[in-house]
Amino acid sequence: MHVHLMCLLLATTSVVILLLLVLSCLIIMKETLRYLAGVSGPSGFGSKSTAEHVAQHCLGGASCSGSLTAIITGATSGIGAETARVLAKWGVRVVIPARDLKRAAQVKKSIEKESPQAEIIVMEIDLSSLASVKRFCSEFLASRLPLHILINNAGRFSQRLEFSEDKIEMTSATNYIGHFLLTNLLLEKMIETAELSGIEGRIVNVSSVIHSWVKRDSFDLYKMCNPKHYNGTKAYSRSKLANLLHAKETARYLKARNAGVTINAVHPGVVKTGIIREQTGFVTDSLFFCASKLLKSTSQGAATTCYVALSPRLRGVSGEYFADCNESHCSNLAEDETVARKLWNQTLTLIQKHLPDPSSKS
Ligand SMILES: NC(=O)c1ccc[n+]([C@@H]2O[C@H](COP(=O)([O-])OP(=O)(O)OC[C@H]3O[C@@H](n4cnc5c(N)ncnc54)[C@H](OP(=O)(O)O)[C@@H]3O)[C@@H](O)[C@H]2O)c1
Repeated sequence: MHVHLMCLLLATTSVVILLLLVLSCLIIMKETLRYLAGVSGPSGFGSKSTAEHVAQHCLGGASCSGSLTAIITGATSGIGAETARVLAKWGVRVVIPARDLKRAAQVKKSIEKESPQAEIIVMEIDLSSLASVKRFCSEFLASRLPLHILINNAGRFSQRLEFSEDKIEMTSATNYIGHFLLTNLLLEKMIETAELSGIEGRIVNVSSVIHSWVKRDSFDLYKMCNPKHYNGTKAYSRSKLANLLHAKETARYLKARNAGVTINAVHPGVVKTGIIREQTGFVTDSLFFCASKLLKSTSQGAATTCYVALSPRLRGVSGEYFADCNESHCSNLAEDETVARKLWNQTLTLIQKHLPDPSSKS
């Protein structure tokens, strides 16, 4: 009798596990098919939507004729360049902070060729340098331009361990810490612009789905900035998790202040851009060729950023994560408020070591 009961219990457990496995496979298959087919989500957009289409739709087909000003980092290539092109085409005044001014001038020229009315301002920044970020912000604030949209898009992925001039590991310095300082130094300007213009300010942190690869026990700001054993993929995924946690924590701060500015994070999708410039070669090219059906075009890659920056549907939505132009789930670690707050405080302390009084939020 006892043995029979045990067998029954075992059989039932096996069936339940099997059913759960089948269910998970079906969900994954459904999501993959939705992605491949570009099925639209609740926003009306999906994985195949382009930045052009999204911007046109969000702005109701009318140019904003300079009534919005956006700063887009990393707009000299890839997803950022496409975001800048599309926003400028729809009448957004675009500020391109760049470390390579020649390249930025080329992007400006090509946008102006397509959209002669476009207003593009090129300024110098090296996001890996705290002093350079501070300099850029001082120059921008001195220009007295309003600021409605800040797109923290610049990014790097490197297999080599390098350190910034502040002696911070280069991927963390560029992808996360530079953008943290940039946001902090521009936050008051954005809040003021929202109050004066009555237009909600939007900050978009370009993160990545790869943030979910980070394990809780391996996430530590000090180890990120000064790693003993460097791994390019791990450094990149941690910086993208930090971008997401930064958005979540800043959103809580902005809500507490009742500020008319929101901040969200996005995964743009997988796009073959300059981000893999160090990885080119037969293996990478073959992998990209095999996965080509899963890749997005650059314009599809810029769509979620444009959606989050412009959509009237997202009024008041803050601290969320978006992929394929729809709200999406991020990892449990990214949702952890204690981790976000700790990261915030540690980042500020680290920056303060290099720059006195760098923060507008404390
Ligand atoms: N491509 C993808 O599959 C993918 C997937 C998920 C997330 N993302 C994210 O999407 C964002 C855009 O990446 P992308 O794919 O468009 O890459 P990309 O073509 O390599 O563009 C990166 C941009 O960042 C700029 N940048 C790098 N280091 C900088 C620094 N120290 N100071 C100022 N600017 C700097 C680059 O400027 P230079 O011209 O001077 O190099 C370039 O404009 C990144 O945040 C990336 O993590 C991309």
